[in-house]
Amino acid sequence: MKILAFESSCDETAVAVVEDGRRILSDAIASQADMHALYGGVVPEIASRKHVEAIAALTDKALADAGIAKKDVDAVAATYAPGLIGAVLVGLNFAKSVAYALSVPLIPVHHIRGHIAANYLAFPDLEPPFLALCMSGGNTLLVDVAGYTDFRLVGATRDDAAGECFDKAARVLGLPYPGGKPMDELARQSAGGVYDLPRAKIEGCELDMSFSGLKTAVVNLAHNAEQTGKPLDRAALARDFTQAVSDELVPRAMLAARQCGRKTIVAAGGVAANSFLRADLQRECDKAGCKLYLPPLSLCGDNGAMIGAQGYYEYLAGACADWSLNAYATREIDDPIVRYAK
Ligand code: KG4
Repeated sequence: MKILAFESSCDETAVAVVEDGRRILSDAIASQADMHALYGGVVPEIASRKHVEAIAALTDKALADAGIAKKDVDAVAATYAPGLIGAVLVGLNFAKSVAYALSVPLIPVHHIRGHIAANYLAFPDLEPPFLALCMSGGNTLLVDVAGYTDFRLVGATRDDAAGECFDKAARVLGLPYPGGKPMDELARQSAGGVYDLPRAKIEGCELDMSFSGLKTAVVNLAHNAEQTGKPLDRAALARDFTQAVSDELVPRAMLAARQCGRKTIVAAGGVAANSFLRADLQRECDKAGCKLYLPPLSLCGDNGAMIGAQGYYEYLAGACADWSLNAYATREIDDPIVRYAK
């Protein structure tokens, strides 16, 4: 089954063709990051406009790269939530018109489910159940994945997402947007151990996380250094900051896996590209005898193929939308709006 998949929840317009949920036939991406970098972060209105400009040509490219014609498309999948509302609307409405014109089913895909499913594209042997650690620019969640369409949220950030925290910390260190990758590179230049940064604990909710205190601590350190003229060891701060993020995420992922009775952990989302996090997760999984799946860097960030992968399993489970499907800025991962016919 060939699915034409659309992703437009933030600053990447992405269109892909995926076969049977596991094989990428094409994965076309038009990133707007350079444009948003001028403003130090994503400007929602610009994101929507850029999606409008890119999506039709990108769809032609995805079909051409896959070597298929429009008549070969069996279904259309699209991100319907969560994300920047204007941005999601562009991709979803374009997807609706394509599905309508081709008379094929329209499959709604939750963006975070897609991030998790990126792993199915890289690892043919991977099947639920597993514990997913999802870390992206807008979301940070721990999810018990009991089946391809059976998700249970077990922990989440109470405030900022891990990726947003990386981006803000990077900005005060003078690094370009998006800041995750340059922070990773800067952190590799230091052994750290210089700055004492906070780790959050939420009483009574040991799997929930918080990144706003850490973000503020980095912002304050940078501003104090600026005001007092004291030198700031930027590489050490990047390293210590990254360690603090990892200390929020990795032990909680291990605990969640234990509590859910899972021996397999799957990482997902843009922040899963972080080299320190990947190493820490691998070390802890080895210690605990857990199998770890880390998506290849090319599938960590937003892409269309992940939507096609999850779209396939949503379709098999009977999820299909009618033309009234709306876009949403926020929806839970076990969203009851997605109804299954079977
Ligand atoms: O998953 P993604 O592409 O978009 C959302 O769905 O939100 O994630 C983007 C986030 C950005 O915050 C970016 O700075 C972060 O992923 N990121 C990283 C790294 N590469 C990208 N964060 C830490 N280390 C990295 N190497």
